[in-house]
Amino acid sequence: MSQAPNNSVEPVDILLIDDRTEDLLALAHVLAGPEYRVQMARSGAEALKRLLEQDFAVILLDVFMPVMDGFELASLIKQRERSQQTPIIFLTAAGSDLSQIYRGYSLGAVEYLNKPIDPDVLRAKVRIFADLFRKDRRLERQAEALRQSERREREVLLTELRHNAERRYLHLAEAMPLSVWTADARGNLTYTNRYWNQYTGLTAGDLRGRSWLDAVDPAEREACGEAWREAVATGQPYERQCRLLRAGDGASRWHLSRAVPERTESGQILGWVGTHADIEDAKRAILARDEFLSIASHELRTPLTALKLRLQSVLHARDLPDKAQHRLDSAVTQTERLERLIENLLDVSRITTGHLDLESEVFDLSELAQDVTERFREQAARGGTSVELAAPEPVLGRWDRLRLEQVATNLLSNALKFGEGHPIEVAVQGDSSHATLTVADRGIGIAPENVDRIFHQFERVVGHRTYGGLGMGLYIAQQIVQAHGGSVRVESSSGQGSRFHVILPR
Ligand SMILES: Nc1ncnc2c1ncn2[C@@H]1O[C@H](COP(=O)(O)OP(=O)(O)OP(=O)(O)O)[C@@H](O)[C@H]1O
Ligand SMILES: [Mg+2]
Repeated sequence: MSQAPNNSVEPVDILLIDDRTEDLLALAHVLAGPEYRVQMARSGAEALKRLLEQDFAVILLDVFMPVMDGFELASLIKQRERSQQTPIIFLTAAGSDLSQIYRGYSLGAVEYLNKPIDPDVLRAKVRIFADLFRKDRRLERQAEALRQSERREREVLLTELRHNAERRYLHLAEAMPLSVWTADARGNLTYTNRYWNQYTGLTAGDLRGRSWLDAVDPAEREACGEAWREAVATGQPYERQCRLLRAGDGASRWHLSRAVPERTESGQILGWVGTHADIEDAKRAILARDEFLSIASHELRTPLTALKLRLQSVLHARDLPDKAQHRLDSAVTQTERLERLIENLLDVSRITTGHLDLESEVFDLSELAQDVTERFREQAARGGTSVELAAPEPVLGRWDRLRLEQVATNLLSNALKFGEGHPIEVAVQGDSSHATLTVADRGIGIAPENVDRIFHQFERVVGHRTYGGLGMGLYIAQQIVQAHGGSVRVESSSGQGSRFHVILPR
């Protein structure tokens, strides 16, 4: 749309419809001038075709035409969306009957002129509609201009926001005390942060065709590379521990590497964001702790065994006063507790160093449950806790007997500790492929969010003062069961008690 200069009037289109050429020409003559572009149609069909192609400021319509009269045509024009608002001036011969005039008005005609037409009257009426049409157009154009300028403003704002966000991410990545990079959909680097550049010594300059694998210790490059290529091919997040070479001193340090794909809303992968966190020091600290645990528990065991033997030999001496006998008994009980603690510590270090060896034999799990339950019964009764056993049939399997005793003991001592005063149920069941040992209590229970945590080393979710323990029992139990190819499941919720299932392949 081109804007007309302000001083001249913008020409508008006018449609004349009449079956008689001489009338058309006469009308066109009256309306000739720079302010109108007059178009003519000699039939209803022709007029409708024109109306499909463009908009008119006003239509002059002869009422009496063969085939389709003016009223029929007018009603068709009004039915069409595009021409609905176009004003129509009906032209008719003088002395037409009034009923027809009413018909015209009911179709929404705005004007009605009798032939012969008075040129001045015609010009005056047409001018009113033409002016209205021009005004509408101007308003429309102004609205459109407004819309466009708003859109441009929005675009500018969006671009600015996007730039700000990008800048912020960049600053964030640069400030991170870990390696960060981005890669394209095929895994080739597109950006590396300062930390990465300094650590790897790989220049940030030209990244084309480069991969983060360039910084991986050659000993692991192949294995990491395979896993990474698989992630890129399938679009699955990548996570792995691997060693990266440090440029400064050539050291090969353990890192936790992660990469996640960035996707469009439709799921197409745009690229990858990767991070490498240096876990060398943490790994060393854990190794040092495990080593210390192993040495300390071995060292503690030797004097403790000697102490226990001494106590027992004194205990067996005859003629001890009752009071001394009682105190010695309790000293033996305490050394036994100490012994169990140290055994647990030793087991944890055996597990972490991969030295938990199984000695398998065929035995009856029901019988084992019976033995362990018996051992607990007396202690439980003292705290007002009953222990029921449901193991109606022998359930034979090939497992490590001592280790499974340890599992049952750990579960039962937990049930007793966290469910004291409420009944405990132990059950053994077997089918053709599996054996299940269940220990259920009605104690404090475990909140759902803690269920996974309790199987980890030294994890506890209760206060130290209320319930003693180091958080080793379940970890050891689960490791033993997993070493047998089995699993431990727990059903519990806070305050509802807990039900632990040990499932073993037979
Ligand atoms: N039967 C149970 N009812 C409620 N909470 C339990 C139960 N068994 C274990 N837990 C929760 O799980 C944690 C870990 O149990 P785990 O047996 O590993 O450690 P612990 O009993 O605290 O210490 P340790 O077994 O080393 O003496 C417990 O501290 C407790 O919070
Ligand atoms: Mg325990």
